[in-house]
Amino acid sequence: MTENKGLKKSEYRKITTHVLQEMKLKSEKIAMLTAYDFSMAGILDAAGIDVILVGDSASNVMAGYSSTLPITLDQMIYHASSVMRAVKRALVVVDLPFGTYQGNSKEALSSAIRIMKESGANAIKMEGGREIIESVDRILSAGIPVMGHLGLTPQSIHKFGTYVVRATDDAEAQTLLEDAHLLEEAGCFSLVLEKIPAKLGGRVTNEIKIPTIGIGAGHDVDGQVLVLHDMLGITQKFSPRFLRRYHNLYEEIRGSVNSYIHDVKTVDFPNDREQY
Ligand code: KIV
Repeated sequence: MTENKGLKKSEYRKITTHVLQEMKLKSEKIAMLTAYDFSMAGILDAAGIDVILVGDSASNVMAGYSSTLPITLDQMIYHASSVMRAVKRALVVVDLPFGTYQGNSKEALSSAIRIMKESGANAIKMEGGREIIESVDRILSAGIPVMGHLGLTPQSIHKFGTYVVRATDDAEAQTLLEDAHLLEEAGCFSLVLEKIPAKLGGRVTNEIKIPTIGIGAGHDVDGQVLVLHDMLGITQKFSPRFLRRYHNLYEEIRGSVNSYIHDVKTVDFPNDREQY
């Protein structure tokens, strides 16, 4: 992956849904991470991330709720427009939050239009299979690219009752496979597969032509996604098997803040060179 720091906008290969399709054809893996604000999104984009997901996980990691259900459409638009102001190259996908598309397809379309119009994002993501096909159709017919999301779908946590691995039995695996085909036929450009057996992740990926992005779905998928705060080690308690932590930013930030407090209290900061 290329580092983009220093390149002019005209020198980037802007990632589009078509580029992701090409990447699948060339067996080039897709790297996706979440971001919710201008500063982080700018770092991810400069590092060369392919896709930025403005996930409704913002409800957990930004707002401190215990599920993704409370976040509102206005709040998602706020996060998405902050991200859009930073991004030059990555494809930016925004989650339709809980309660803004399950009612009916007209409501789903107006939620998707608000996200696209008010944030300038490139695509939206929706959780679910056959039950959302009518909404997916309607949104796609308005020219808005849709990413699907199957397996563990956190907006349905109260139906599942737990965050355990999904589709471990044949019946649920078969339903997931059928839903993946339905979403592909409807015209989704990609699918997130969350917390399912690696074998099933590989099977879905082989059977459909659109790229699959896994989170806890093994390595035989077309790309991977993680929540930024989890992979940077800002969150501490969330430790599923699929999570690789690349940093312990919680400790690093805490250490820096401790040093700052110490320096202020001891009048070490500011020194003579740090004042006018
Ligand atoms: O909201 C989110 O961050 C997501 C990812 C976990 C795929 O949907």
